Amino acid sequence: MKHPPFVNVAVTGATSGIGRAVAARLAALGAQNVFFCGRDPERVAETEEELRGLGTKARGARLDVADAAAARAWLEDCDRAAPLDLVFANAGVSAGGREDDEAAVRRVFGVDVGGVLNTVLPAIDLYRRGGGPARAARRIAITSSMTAYHGMPQCPAYSAAKACVKAWGAGLRGRLRREGIVVTVVCPGFVRSRITDANTCPMPFFLEAPRAASAICGGIARGRGLVAFPLPMRLACWLLGALPERVSERLFRLLPEKDGASPRPRRTDAHSRDAMQEKMAEREGFEPPVPCGTPDFESGTFDHSDTSPRGCPRNAELRQAAPTAVLDK
Ligand SMILES: NC(=O)c1ccc[n+]([C@@H]2O[C@H](COP(=O)([O-])OP(=O)(O)OC[C@H]3O[C@@H](n4cnc5c(N)ncnc54)[C@H](OP(=O)(O)O)[C@@H]3O)[C@@H](O)[C@H]2O)c1
Repeated sequence: MKHPPFVNVAVTGATSGIGRAVAARLAALGAQNVFFCGRDPERVAETEEELRGLGTKARGARLDVADAAAARAWLEDCDRAAPLDLVFANAGVSAGGREDDEAAVRRVFGVDVGGVLNTVLPAIDLYRRGGGPARAARRIAITSSMTAYHGMPQCPAYSAAKACVKAWGAGLRGRLRREGIVVTVVCPGFVRSRITDANTCPMPFFLEAPRAASAICGGIARGRGLVAFPLPMRLACWLLGALPERVSERLFRLLPEKDGASPRPRRTDAHSRDAMQEKMAEREGFEPPVPCGTPDFESGTFDHSDTSPRGCPRNAELRQAAPTAVLDK
């Protein structure tokens, strides 16, 4: 079966990384008009020059996709200039090392979820309005991520935002199929870009952006629902999402932070001792020692540091009654 050609395309976040490589790939595949956007004017100008060098009519715009009205107006302008047959909602940000910072978390949801809504909803409206024979196809692609397969402690907001657009895209695909609108969700593994340039953690199965762009454009052209690559990464992430929570949580504890920091510290001896004492209390009616010591009547506090048999006679009794291996662990 021959796949419809890419003729007039709009790509958000095409001024670097994956989006720029996809725009270049679409131009090389013969797209006549490549509309794209990003926020940084210099990167927009550079990308426009690169794409024009590939023989396409490239038109870049400065746009923040989190601005719904601006995104809709931009897509309507593009469609008026040349009826779009592919709208690729690709722009995205990560919180970097700031996943605990409220503003950064809100920004991630604003761009990675809000920006996708602001691109895809107007695209659906444009496609529904028609466009006549000049519209070669009606395709929508959304960039999600491998992090969408499971909430990641290393990047909770980012993985949640990507999971949201992955599920939305999959649902829309079934819903819009009868109208001839084909939706593809793209889940790349680690690909060279400004986002991954900031990572210092290990990035297995790392890909250069042109290689990723080739997989993405091939998948969209074939009308695939999900383009998730590279395969080993896809299998690993799928398995992680399918494992029982107790197992996956243990695995996540072993993974390094995005900034390369080592995994969370192991439970301390004190934690293990408490847990063991709790278990023994449950199973055998063993009463754990109570921290005691010398009361400080002036401050109204109690010095718990002295739990020696001398400092606490009650513990001395318990110590005799209980296996020492448990108390001294
Ligand atoms: N690289 C990876 O390993 C990887 C893996 C999975 C998924 N992804 C996803 O792939 C997409 C592309 O990211 P990338 O890795 O190629 O990173 P990148 O090099 O930082 O590219 C992000 C692009 O989005 C644009 N952008 C960011 N915020 C925007 C906004 N509010 N409005 C308009 N444009 C905006 C950026 O341009 P300006 O900064 O100039 O605005 C840039 O063109 C993202 O959705 C990302 O989450 C990346």
